[in-house]
Amino acid sequence: MTIYRTMLFAPANDLRKVGKALMLNADGTVLDLEDAVALSEKINARNALNEALSLPRKGDVFIRVNSVQTEFILSDLLAAVTEGVRGLVVAKSESAEEIRQVDWLIGKIEKERGLTEGYMEIIPFIESANAIVNAFSIASSSPRVSRMFFGGVDYVLDIGTTFSKGGTEIFYARSQLVVASRAACIEPPIDTVYPDFKDIEGLVADAKAVRQMGFQGKLAIHPGQIEPLNEVFTPTPEEISWAQKIVAVFDEEEAKGQAVFQVDGKMIEYPIANRARRIIDLAEQIAKKSV
Ligand code: COA
Ligand code: MG
Repeated sequence: MTIYRTMLFAPANDLRKVGKALMLNADGTVLDLEDAVALSEKINARNALNEALSLPRKGDVFIRVNSVQTEFILSDLLAAVTEGVRGLVVAKSESAEEIRQVDWLIGKIEKERGLTEGYMEIIPFIESANAIVNAFSIASSSPRVSRMFFGGVDYVLDIGTTFSKGGTEIFYARSQLVVASRAACIEPPIDTVYPDFKDIEGLVADAKAVRQMGFQGKLAIHPGQIEPLNEVFTPTPEEISWAQKIVAVFDEEEAKGQAVFQVDGKMIEYPIANRARRIIDLAEQIAKKSV
C-alpha cells in the first residue's frame, strides 16, 4: 500500500502554484485540468503540463482529467498519459463502464508511447449520488483502481444541500466509500477538500473524524492544510509505543499457546494484535517517506 495522507490540488495552468505544490510535503500533488481551470483556459492548461512535469518534485504527481462525459476527455488523456505521471484522477466518475473506457484508452496510449503497460493508475473521483450508489462496481472496474477520492462539494450540490462543518449530509456517502473500497479489496478512500482553508481547527476536527471512519487521508487545496493533515493521518508516538508493546506481548503469549489475555485491563486478541501490527507498518512506511 502507498500512503497518501495528503493530496494537494493545483490548477495545471498556474505554474507558480504548481511549482510550489510539487515541493511541499504533500504525499501527492494533483495537477487539475477540471474545475480549477476556466473553460477558456482548458487548452492552455493541457499545454502547460509538459513544463509542469519537468519541474522538481518531492511526491507523486497525478493529473485530474475532465469527466468522461465531456468533450475534453480525449485530448486530456492524450496530454496526461505520459512519463512521470503516477495516475489520472477522473473527475465526476459515474460508472464502472466509464472507468473501463478510460482504462482501455490509457492502455492504447501507453502501448503506442512505449510506456510501462498498466503502470498508470486511475483514481475515480466520486462526487454524485449515482456514483455513491455505484461505488463498489467503480472500485472493482479495473486493476488500475487502487483508491477513490470523495468530492463533497459537488456531492452536496447533487443531493440538493450544502456543506456543513459537522458533515451530517455526507456521513452516509463517506461510510459507503469506506465499505465499498474494502469490499473491492482496494485501499481506503481519500476524503473531500475542506474549502474554508483558513479554518485549521475545523480542518483538523474533520480529518480526525474521517480517519476514525476509515479514510487514509484528505485532499488539500492550500499549502497551510498540508502539515496539519499529515499529522492527523500519522500514528502518534503514543499509538506507536502502544502498538509495539501489544505486538511484543502478543507474540510472547501466542508462543505459549495463549491468544486471549489482558494488558492494562483491556482484552487483547488476534484483531487487536493485527491492528497494532498495521499501526507499526504504517508508521514505518511514513518514516521511509521522510528520509
Ligand atoms: N498549491 C500551491 N501553492 C498554493 C496553492 C496551491 N494549491 N494555494 C495557494 N498557494 C500559494 C499561493 O500561490 C501563495 O503563494 P505566493 O504568496 O508565493 O504567491 C500562497 O500559497 C498563499 O496563498 P493565499 O494568498 O493564501 O491564497 P490564494 O488566494 O493565492 O489562493 C486558492 C487561494 C483557493 C485560489 C488556491 O489555494 C488554489 O488555487 N487552490 C487549489 C484549487 C484547486 O485546484 N481546486 C480544485 C480541486 S477542488
Ligand atoms: Mg468536483
